[in-house]
Amino acid sequence: MNANTRKLLFLSCVSILFNALYVSSSNTTNSLLLNCGSENEGTDADGRKWEPDAKYLGGNHPQARAQIQDSSILSDVPLMDARIFRSEATYKLPIKPQTRYFLRLYFYPSDYAGLNVSNSYFSVVAAGVTLLNNFSAPITAQALTFAYLVKEYSLAPIDSDTLSITFKPSDKAVDAFAFVNGIEVVPIPGDLFGSGIMTGFSDITIDAKDSNLETMYRLNVAGQYIAPNKDSGGLARNWYNDAPYLYGAAVGVNRMANKTVQINYADLPEYVAPVDVYQTARGMGPDSAMNLKFNLTWMFLVDANFTYIVRLHFCEFELTRSNQKGFNIYINNQTAQGGMEAADIIAWTGQIGKPTYKDYMISVNDRQGDDHIQVDLNPSTLYKPEYYDATLNGLEIFKMSDQKNNLAGPNPELSAMLTKALAEEKQKTFQSSGVGIEGAAGGAAGFCVVAAICIAVYQRKRRDPNVESHTSSWLPVYTNSYTSTSKSTISGKSTTSSHLSTLAQGLCRHFTLPEMKKATKNFDESNVIGVGGFGKVYKGIIDQNVKVAIKKSNPQSEQGVNEFQTEIEMLSKLRHKHLVSLIGFCEENEEMCLVYDYMALGTLREHLYNTKRPKLSWKRRLEICIGAARGLHYLHTGAQYTIIHRDVKTTNILLNENWVAKVSDFGLSKTGPNLDKGHVSTVVKGSFGYLDPEYFKRQQLTEKSDVYSFGVVLFEVLCARPALNPNLSKEQVSLADWALHCQRKGILEDIIDPHIKGKINPECLKKFAETAQKCLEEAGTERPSMGDVLWSLEFALQLQENSEGSRHSTQVESSDISGEILGNNHETNLDSDETGEIFSQIVNPKGR
Ligand SMILES: *[C@@H]1O[C@H](CO)[C@@H](O)[C@H](O)[C@H]1NC(C)=O
Ligand SMILES: *[C@@H]1O[C@H](CO)[C@@H](O)[C@H](O)[C@H]1NC(C)=O
Ligand SMILES: *[C@@H]1O[C@H](CO)[C@@H](O)[C@H](O)[C@H]1NC(C)=O
Ligand SMILES: *[C@@H]1O[C@H](CO)[C@@H](O)[C@H](O)[C@H]1NC(C)=O
Ligand SMILES: *[C@@H]1O[C@H](CO)[C@@H](O)[C@H](O)[C@H]1NC(C)=O
Ligand SMILES: *[C@@H]1O[C@H](CO)[C@@H](O)[C@H](O)[C@H]1NC(C)=O
Ligand SMILES: *[C@@H]1O[C@H](CO)[C@@H](O)[C@H](O)[C@H]1NC(C)=O
Ligand SMILES: *[C@@H]1O[C@H](CO)[C@@H](O)[C@H](O)[C@H]1NC(C)=O
Repeated sequence: MNANTRKLLFLSCVSILFNALYVSSSNTTNSLLLNCGSENEGTDADGRKWEPDAKYLGGNHPQARAQIQDSSILSDVPLMDARIFRSEATYKLPIKPQTRYFLRLYFYPSDYAGLNVSNSYFSVVAAGVTLLNNFSAPITAQALTFAYLVKEYSLAPIDSDTLSITFKPSDKAVDAFAFVNGIEVVPIPGDLFGSGIMTGFSDITIDAKDSNLETMYRLNVAGQYIAPNKDSGGLARNWYNDAPYLYGAAVGVNRMANKTVQINYADLPEYVAPVDVYQTARGMGPDSAMNLKFNLTWMFLVDANFTYIVRLHFCEFELTRSNQKGFNIYINNQTAQGGMEAADIIAWTGQIGKPTYKDYMISVNDRQGDDHIQVDLNPSTLYKPEYYDATLNGLEIFKMSDQKNNLAGPNPELSAMLTKALAEEKQKTFQSSGVGIEGAAGGAAGFCVVAAICIAVYQRKRRDPNVESHTSSWLPVYTNSYTSTSKSTISGKSTTSSHLSTLAQGLCRHFTLPEMKKATKNFDESNVIGVGGFGKVYKGIIDQNVKVAIKKSNPQSEQGVNEFQTEIEMLSKLRHKHLVSLIGFCEENEEMCLVYDYMALGTLREHLYNTKRPKLSWKRRLEICIGAARGLHYLHTGAQYTIIHRDVKTTNILLNENWVAKVSDFGLSKTGPNLDKGHVSTVVKGSFGYLDPEYFKRQQLTEKSDVYSFGVVLFEVLCARPALNPNLSKEQVSLADWALHCQRKGILEDIIDPHIKGKINPECLKKFAETAQKCLEEAGTERPSMGDVLWSLEFALQLQENSEGSRHSTQVESSDISGEILGNNHETNLDSDETGEIFSQIVNPKGR
């Protein structure tokens, strides 16, 4: 459970790009924005004015300016200046008595002149509540791989017109100091927090009106990222997509309100959550029988020994009567809503389109390392609703202060691997400073340029919602920003809505050329395991016994350089069980290498045809397709931007020794811009046989192009023949065309791989073929999303499993096969799950 939780969390931490959206100045006249350490007024990237902090601060405290501006920081204000405290210091801010506020603290743990930020350990106390204790911003940011941190609190109303915030350096650490970059105080109208029911005890209610809270998570379930300037009530909150927190195989389906359904708040204040939250929901699926078999589950890491408010937002926009849908809600396995008291949204609200929310409290105690909150939904059979389904629109989790008025938890622990990687990184920059810096820093600078351009493109689009993203022809990471908000899934723990450092490459090891040579026996031909457009791929060994795959660039290839950078950029930010992991890179003397996990079982294609390897069972093929679909689904929705792979094919789906499928080769994931020549590449890239005809014709790239290619992969897996085979008769050359033809004629059976024909459950085959067919629809808009494809494949697998009986027997079969193929390959150390574990530990935020 714990390992899985970690994995879940690491997912949540990886995918932030540039997201410095703040609320654009609305008439939140009582908001106070302090640009700490600055002497002048300043305007942030969204035109909000921040004022100097000196007049609110007693005593003389130095200021410092960050020496490096991380590329995720779009404006100097408020992060580049910091106020430094060597001794205790207190801000006194004017507030309205008896009013609840959001207090947001901004920390940018960077290099400040004359200071070693590693030494900053401090506490923050506001209105008598301990917000942070022994807090280390650099440790927290590193563990979460964020460039900066924003902590959000909501303090109980007080009987005073002054809010005191005290920063105090830790007296237990040597040379400790405190710092802060920005302070934001935003009044909350009305009472956002009332009373909630203690989960598991329907008769115990707890009043949250007078409690002090820290925001841990805030999610627009099945919806897009909502930036602060799109928030309701001028509260400037971030709402993130929930996908990274989904737990288990079932992800349900996205539901969106029909435009004809008006969201009518009625007596609910609009500041509770924006309309967008209520217009999208995650449901279980259309099949009642299926829905009874699983739970929709979300999992969140939290600090132990605190009580949490779990706020669930609901809005029914499809059904109109009560008792049409009723579902159970469990929090940490305790019934929050169930039996005859099942959640029935229409019964609660009385009408379609009317939002509501419910608060549940849960104590998370430190029994056996319990440090998570798990939310489960499933249909209530006792309630006997018309449809077996469950839906959720939004979710927030707040931590309540304990009896000692404390909200602070421990610093997250840095994993050993990250510590090592960082140490090496540091040493490297140390050694190379002065002399060899061009070589090492050249790459990094390159990424900064790329990142800066991303921001520019993104900024422009965001400012002008009418600019269609297609018109911005350089699409490094294709955005959905015609909606003018970006997708985001981040937040890690807490709404430390923060930003991945461009030097997330800190996560990526930097190798030297001699190390690469040693690993591959001087790039010996006998170690070549593949050849691609980029150059050759070698098998290698690092750290004595860790097997890796090393991709070496061909220096002649101009394309190679771009693709090299794309891969580092993409992969250092993306970590997922079903994406090949990048371990590190080497750039020296014009030699460039990328170092990956070694995938012991090679490509999917090698197992399908023209091979001596044993034929894969149908079930195994399905499982591989599901893994790959999951990886692609993550690319499309898991990251802040929709990322389009552009080269989905069976040779880019790799298998590790446990048959876990991983999508690889992100070299084409963007249209390579030819920056120097200042012109825009519209060259269609990808592989013939897999290429989306619509993309080919219109050169409009959408994630549906990947769906098309994946459809070809599905037929390839079913028929075990290449996507293009020029040796066959004309109508059969293209698998996509031929399979569609056969499917329409009802003769698909004839072209199925003879090895599995007859072993496929007919229902399963039907579902699978239908799914593949839909992926190959002419018009992209008609194709399913990767999420839908994933869902259908899971369903197909279930049909197959049900017909095969016990899972167990196939389990045995699979380990037999892998034993055979692997031979004495067992010493491979970077097992996929282990790697997942390692990476998840890297960003394991044990604390915020
Ligand atoms: C904000 O401005 C709108 C119209 O400009 C007004 O209706 C509303 O009452 C104002 N809100 C506050 C809190 O001043
Ligand atoms: C900063 O402090 C840390 C811990 O005290 C120490 O390990 C590190 O070497 C220091 N860095 C510099 C540049 O002095
Ligand atoms: C939305 O509702 C209208 C009116 O009920 C209906 O005609 C239309 O088909 C619906 N659209 C979708 C996408 O369901
Ligand atoms: C909930 O139940 C599942 C299975 O019954 C168990 O694995 C999990 O640890 C439980 N979670 C908690 C928080 O007790
Ligand atoms: C759903 O979750 C509840 C509570 O955690 C658990 O008791 C139940 O077994 C789960 N059902 C399924 C099908 O996983
Ligand atoms: C939680 O409380 C228990 C019992 O008081 C204690 O043993 C444990 O260390 C605490 N856990 C944390 C994370 O503070
Ligand atoms: C402060 O935090 C650091 C880093 O997490 C930890 O090593 C140290 O023990 C903590 N000190 C105290 C007094 O809790
Ligand atoms: C086509 O035939 C040639 C010659 O027989 C053979 O070398 C080649 O591998 C075949 N191509 C495919 C895709 O089967």
